[in-house]
Amino acid sequence: MSDRLFIFDTTLRDGEQVPGCQLNTVEKIQVAKALEELGVDVIEAGFPVSSPGDFQSVVEISKAVTWPTICALTRAVEKDINAAAEALKYAKRGRIHTGIGTSDYHIRHKFNSTQEEILERAIAATKYAKKFVEDVEFYCEDAGRTDNAYLARVVEAVIKAGATVVNIPDTTGYCLPDEYRAKIKYLIDNVDGVHNAILSTHCHNDLGMATANTVQGVLNGARQVEVTINGIGERAGNTSLEEVAMIFRSHKERNIVTNINTTKIYSMSRMVSSLMNMPVQPNKAIVGKNAFAHSSGIHQDGVLKNRESYEIIDPKEVGIDDNAIVLTARSGRAALKHRLRVLGVEMEQDKLDKVYEEFLKLADRKKDINDDDVLLLVGKDRTAMHRIKLEYLQVTSGVGLKSVASVCLDIAGEKFEAASAGNGPVDAAIKAVKMIIRRTMTIQEFLIQAINKGSDDIGKVHMQVEYDGNVYYGFSANTDIIAASVEAFIDAINKFVK
Ligand code: KIV
Ligand code: ZN
Repeated sequence: MSDRLFIFDTTLRDGEQVPGCQLNTVEKIQVAKALEELGVDVIEAGFPVSSPGDFQSVVEISKAVTWPTICALTRAVEKDINAAAEALKYAKRGRIHTGIGTSDYHIRHKFNSTQEEILERAIAATKYAKKFVEDVEFYCEDAGRTDNAYLARVVEAVIKAGATVVNIPDTTGYCLPDEYRAKIKYLIDNVDGVHNAILSTHCHNDLGMATANTVQGVLNGARQVEVTINGIGERAGNTSLEEVAMIFRSHKERNIVTNINTTKIYSMSRMVSSLMNMPVQPNKAIVGKNAFAHSSGIHQDGVLKNRESYEIIDPKEVGIDDNAIVLTARSGRAALKHRLRVLGVEMEQDKLDKVYEEFLKLADRKKDINDDDVLLLVGKDRTAMHRIKLEYLQVTSGVGLKSVASVCLDIAGEKFEAASAGNGPVDAAIKAVKMIIRRTMTIQEFLIQAINKGSDDIGKVHMQVEYDGNVYYGFSANTDIIAASVEAFIDAINKFVK
């Protein structure tokens, strides 16, 4: 008999806390619907009290999604719980995820409190959340560094107060696998009534142990894992969904099963990477570009004779289509549509036609079009909704020459032009844009990355722009890095100029 492991995806909450990875509500719904198809059991959709945007996203995801439980995060504070309950009102199955720090670091330094007081607050928050929903999950923040005897008292008390799930986060990613295993085992062995609730793992990857700790938690009694697509999350990230799903699928002898449709993993990974502008490292397990690429002659020979000599997973199991059609300037719409579908993007014919036009322009400049290029083309189409658009950009620069740029912006249909000199072509072009926009804005971070290699590669630009005390994120990609820089700046400006 196998045990069912519940997959709690927090890409849209813990994952989305990464600077520069924020999604708008439409994008969040797109991710949530793909997570539903992937087969996750719970979607943590946001932290409703934290901002009106987060509140609205929980509302809209609750409406859009049918099968998974929709979860909303709160602190152990009544106003947070009220906001979560309100945001979840359209959820077919709603869960409130409340909790408080239980380690001495949190109790003494963050709350200036005592263990007894924190225990009372934990019980009160659980009981309060139970007034709104049956399904209440309690998190013991920094459980990784919490004394096990005290942790067991908190877990026992919140289960008695009605918690259906208790989350044991290694918030700082401090635990080693044997320590995390011992913690979960201690709770299973010492908490009265522990079988009336599910214990959940929530591991961070600061020491590269997130997946190992999660697996140890499951092998010792946890039956829910909190994970993100591609392991995204603050600092070094969270446990990655695809790793846990494939570990238990590969190790059937452990008798742990999930509801994940693994053939959707690759397209899900690409969707999140592209919407969040967060590249996946090439050697990332399961979804990295090199995860199934054999370059040494000995390996290639072995795989050709029998795939299992060097591969423990058939790439098809995770949805990697190894008959992938290579896209070039001679590829037709059908090939592009097929590639997009493999990458998790469905498109209406008229949108596809526009993307195809862009595709042909790019294919003229770049010989082989890879998956990243295709996803960026689709992303580019999103700027069609922008109020401010770059109409043209002309720059003169070179060694021994002063850089000068002329820019024309289309602002809600009206054209504005400006020209400026600068200490380089990007500086000159940004100054020209500023002359048109006339607001005090500062670029706080400016990152240029090449996607693959080669002088014809696409450059991706991420920018953080500070305006009126807030930070706005801009992104663009173009084979021309000066154009990409200006487009990223305009992308950020579109977020505050309404
Ligand atoms: O890492 C953590 O402790 C968390 C909690 C808020 C669940 O993300
Ligand atoms: Zn976390």
